[in-house]
Amino acid sequence: MNKEYVHGYNPRENIRLQDQASTLVELLHSDTSYPAGSCVLEAGCGVGAQTVTIAGNSPSAMITSIDISGTSIAEAERKIAGLGLTNVRFRQADILNLPFGPGSFDHVFICFVLEHLNNPLKALLALKEVLRPGGTITVIEGDHGSAYFHPDSQAAHKAINCQVELQKRAGGNSMIGRELYPLLCNAGFRSVRVSPRMVYADSSRQELVDGFTRKTFTAMIEGVRESAIDAKIIEQDEFEKGIRDLYRTAEEDGVFCYTFFKAFGEINS
Ligand SMILES: C[S@@+](CC[C@H](N)C(=O)[O-])C[C@H]1O[C@@H](n2cnc3c(N)ncnc32)[C@H](O)[C@@H]1O
Repeated sequence: MNKEYVHGYNPRENIRLQDQASTLVELLHSDTSYPAGSCVLEAGCGVGAQTVTIAGNSPSAMITSIDISGTSIAEAERKIAGLGLTNVRFRQADILNLPFGPGSFDHVFICFVLEHLNNPLKALLALKEVLRPGGTITVIEGDHGSAYFHPDSQAAHKAINCQVELQKRAGGNSMIGRELYPLLCNAGFRSVRVSPRMVYADSSRQELVDGFTRKTFTAMIEGVRESAIDAKIIEQDEFEKGIRDLYRTAEEDGVFCYTFFKAFGEINS
């Protein structure tokens, strides 16, 4: 995996992940809570942007949050301690080489991670191994093919495509949201259900315009400027126009839509 495109490894990206998490808490997590006494594995917690919500929503569940990056784990740990949350323990670990025995967890939660892996099915199979019989998995991913907006702009679509292309070259898939159903089924989960969560932002919803259109989505696309131009995926002028057009959708008459996918699966009791 090319580390350059694994989100969460630089301060600006950390702020973006935090903005994204705070803006989307209700949309993505209103139905994420785990029963008292249950053991939950959060795989790929990064700097803890989702950990805060899942730990807060499930104060009597024991959460184990892992990430392959020691730096991210350290930051997540500081964040959780700073909030006074005591139901999370952290561990640096690779999803593909988990330091837990079979059946160690009642639930697995994984958000915005599969899109970065070159073999997401293998990751799901590894996570399934550590679930107890009857355990569940919750997966959340975006899909950059789901971005549409007004005013429409070819340059904006081309700028978005830079992110899609770079992630593909790094072995990931930024359009994985639409594949969650077949992925979970192929991994052997049963009763798989996928719930699409659409972000719809117009100027009557300023918190989404600012938190999502500007600070989450457009900021993410802006973040690949140098890499996309260096890789000659796009000319600088066209990229800049694409970014201006994305910001344009955040104006008074602009509209921005994007869909996340939240999937649930179980394993046999
Ligand atoms: C985009 S971040 C998402 C972080 C967090 N889940 C969130 O939603 O804010 C992806 C995270 O997956 C982690 N990651 C990637 N591959 C991993 C692996 N094989 N095992 C564990 N963590 C991994 C990265 O280090 C990074 O922190």
